[in-house]
Amino acid sequence: MFKTPRGTVDILPDDQPYWRHVEAQATELCERFGYRRIDTPIFEESGLFVRSVGEATDVVEKETYSFSDRSGDSMTLRPEATAGVCRAYLQHGMHVLPQPVRLYSVSAPMFRYDRPQAGRQRQFHHVNVEAIGDPDASVDSEVVELAWRFFAGVGLRNLTLVLNSIGDQACRPGYLEALRRYYEPLVPGLCADCKRRFHENPLRLLDCKKESCQPHAREAPRSLDHLCEACRAHWDELTASLDLVALPYTVDHRLVRGLDYYTRTVFEVLPPAEGAQSTLGGGGRYDGLIEQLEGRPTPGVGFACGVERIILNMKRQGVTLAQQAPVKAVVAYVGGAAKGPALKLASDLRAAGLSVVLAPAGKSLKAQMRFAGALQASYVLIMGDDEVRDGTVTLKEMAGGEQRQVPVADAATTLEPRWVL
Ligand code: HAM
Repeated sequence: MFKTPRGTVDILPDDQPYWRHVEAQATELCERFGYRRIDTPIFEESGLFVRSVGEATDVVEKETYSFSDRSGDSMTLRPEATAGVCRAYLQHGMHVLPQPVRLYSVSAPMFRYDRPQAGRQRQFHHVNVEAIGDPDASVDSEVVELAWRFFAGVGLRNLTLVLNSIGDQACRPGYLEALRRYYEPLVPGLCADCKRRFHENPLRLLDCKKESCQPHAREAPRSLDHLCEACRAHWDELTASLDLVALPYTVDHRLVRGLDYYTRTVFEVLPPAEGAQSTLGGGGRYDGLIEQLEGRPTPGVGFACGVERIILNMKRQGVTLAQQAPVKAVVAYVGGAAKGPALKLASDLRAAGLSVVLAPAGKSLKAQMRFAGALQASYVLIMGDDEVRDGTVTLKEMAGGEQRQVPVADAATTLEPRWVL
């Protein structure tokens, strides 16, 4: 028997209310903030992710699903949305629009070949927002606020917002130098991953999850102490803006994020019971990214969160949602001659806007009633030889058990007074 591939899941009907709720909240909120929806392909040329997310990141190094298509071109299932959205911004000349261009996506499938566990899958889904074309700190503040309001909107409580600035191309090299100087004598005692990071991506030394590396990271030089004047002013304005709109952030000097394109602002939202894989969402500014994709220098800032992790935490926090409403009525029938009229009645009722299903064929009336009970239908409409002859239908209320004959033409208004056949 085939099963879902490792790290993927079926989103079954009972879980759909959570998905619809998250999607509805995201759509409403993003549009309230003036963002417009964009959907980009789930695969892109592999080079796009190497250039943007970065060659030395875990995501590109170990987690991409890449394949050669039939023409021999290397394609990658997208591990994140930012690269594709920036590609779309360039491809469609969005620089001529009023800046920043505010774009959002909901339930966008993403793919990362990672070790699956609760809240970590190989196919997962992002709510993603990007504001491209404006360097001002007020836009960072807006994106952080949107993220925060979104989590509150889906019903999550007791979350933590962590924030940091990792500088830009002017001050980052100096900071990296300070980090290297600090870490150099510590290299022999670092974990294997950190030994590699020391050479390839020293920023990532700060967010190593290994117990033995943590004390070093805690004592490491802080990026906020190495910001150039422009980055410092940007940071001061961002924190002042967040204070103004009363967002409760915590500064975490070890927050660096796992993708290479970030400049200045980085932030994450964490659930109450924090664990290695628990980050609900994260984002930041990426002022060099579009240039790396061969566009004119264009700033950007954005955010993404995993829908699966949101739903996991909604369940943990006891957020409950109503299931899809059951069908209003089941049309049952007795005898072969009633099948056609029963099918026609079900069709007419659906055309009139009611949710109705036809009972399965070849079953006794009792079995059809049980079927209606299992579907939690409010009514059963029964067609038999007499009803067909008289142009009526027997309407049975499932709750009280009352039964009466009504003309077929009145069935819809009887079930739902505002509907007329
Ligand atoms: P990211 O931190 O790599 O950022 O992913 C954002 C969120 O996606 C994570 O916080 C987590 O909720 C979810 N996520 C990541 N990997 C998995 C997984 N394997 N299974 C389930 N959920 C997962 C980005 O992707 C950036 N593009 C965000 C961004 C947008 N930055 C600027 N604009």
